Amino acid sequence: MSGGIAAYKAAEICRRLMDAGATVSPVMTIAAKRFIGEATLSALASEPVRTSLWGGPEPIPHTRLGQSADLVVVAPATARIIGSYAAGISSDLLSATLLATRAPVLMCPAMHTEMWEHPAVVDNVATLKRRGVHFVEPGVGRLAGGDLGAGRLADPADIVDAASTLLRSSRSLDGVRAVVTAGGTREPIDPVRYIGNRSSGRQGYAVAAELAARGASVTLVSTVASSLDAPAGVDVVEVETAMEMLASVEARLGAPGSSADLLVMTAAVADFRPAARSDQKIKRGSGVPDVQLVANPDILAGLAQARLANNAPGPLLVGFAAETVRPGGPTLEELALSKLRSKGADVIVANDVALPGVGFGHATNAVVIVDRDGRSVQVPLTTKEKVAVAVVDAAERILVTRNLTS
Ligand code: C5P
Repeated sequence: MSGGIAAYKAAEICRRLMDAGATVSPVMTIAAKRFIGEATLSALASEPVRTSLWGGPEPIPHTRLGQSADLVVVAPATARIIGSYAAGISSDLLSATLLATRAPVLMCPAMHTEMWEHPAVVDNVATLKRRGVHFVEPGVGRLAGGDLGAGRLADPADIVDAASTLLRSSRSLDGVRAVVTAGGTREPIDPVRYIGNRSSGRQGYAVAAELAARGASVTLVSTVASSLDAPAGVDVVEVETAMEMLASVEARLGAPGSSADLLVMTAAVADFRPAARSDQKIKRGSGVPDVQLVANPDILAGLAQARLANNAPGPLLVGFAAETVRPGGPTLEELALSKLRSKGADVIVANDVALPGVGFGHATNAVVIVDRDGRSVQVPLTTKEKVAVAVVDAAERILVTRNLTS
C-alpha cells in the first residue's frame, strides 16, 4: 500500500485475498499509515505488517519479501510509487521490494485525475507496461475532497480477480507461439471512405493479454493499434484490410522455424471489399457512385483447408462467430457447432450480438465455446477479460492433449 485515501480499500483487498486462500504480507509506506492503521491490516493478513527497511527482525526484508512472493499487488499505487518503480529508485521498503522481485507485479493506481493524466505519470505507466508490469486501471468516480473524475481505485473484487488470474495462469503456455487478430477490417472505397464494422478490438486484445500472461509469445495483428494500448509483452502488427490481415497472418503462421501453434481469429473480417479503390475522393457532383464489391478470402476457413490439404497438424484454429439467434430457430450452441464444421476450426466462440451488452463495441460479452472434441462451455455476461480466460482455457486444453498425444 502506498499513501492515498484509497488505502482504506486495501483492507478489503487483503480480506478477499485471504478468503481466496493466499498468504498475504502487507507492506505499507509511511504515507499509507496516515490513511489506515497497521492494526487493521495485521488483523486481516496472515503475515506481519512491514513498514520499513530498518529496525525489523530481518536484516534485509525487501529481498526476502521480493524473492518469496508469487505476486506483488500495489493497491493503491500513487504517482510517487509508480514514478519510483519506473525510474528504478528504491527509497523505502515498498519500492525496494518491487525492485527485488521477479514475480509478476500488479499495480492498481489511485490518484487525482490531474495527476493520473499528467504526462510524467502517463509515461511512467507506459514504461512499466512495456516491461511487463500488469495494471488494473483506475475507474471514474468520486475522489478525495469530493472531486469527480478518472483516478479512483478499481473495485477490490476486480483487483482480486486480476491477481488470481495472474497467479492461476502463470506460465502454463511457455514456449507456445500464438497469433491473435483483432478489430474490424477497413476496406477502402476512396482515400477517405471505407466499408467497416463496429468491432472495437477489445475482445482480441483481452485474448492476447491472457495468452501473454500464461507465457505464450504473442503477435497481435490489429486494425485498431492506434486506439488501444498494446497488452504487456505482446508484439503488435498494424493492418487495415482483410487482404493485409491475410498476408500478415500467413507470413507468421508459415514462416520456417517460426510457425505458430495457435491462431485466434477474433477480428471481424469484412466479407466483401470494393472491387476497385478510387485514388481520388469520389465527389458528390458525379452522381451516386456504383461501388462494385468482391468477396474477401475467408482467412480462417482457408487456413483450415490448407491444413487438411497438407495433412499436417498445423496451428490450432480458434474462430469467433457473431450470431443473432431467432426465436424458434437454431440455438447459439447449434449455430456455433455448424460454424465449427463449415470453417473446419478446432474451437468456435459464438455470441448472440442482438443481446444487450454482448459483442461489438461493448466492454462485456456472453459466449458459448464449442470445440472439435464435443465440449461446450457457456460463459454468461461478464467482462471481455473473463471471456478471454475461458477462450484461452479451451485452446490450452486442446494444446495440452495434442502435446501429450503427438
Ligand atoms: O463466417 P463468419 O464471418 O461468421 O466467421 C467468423 C470467423 O471467421 C471469425 O473468427 C473471423 O475472424 C473469421 N473470418 C475470417 N475471414 C473472413 C471472415 C471471417 O477469417 N473473411
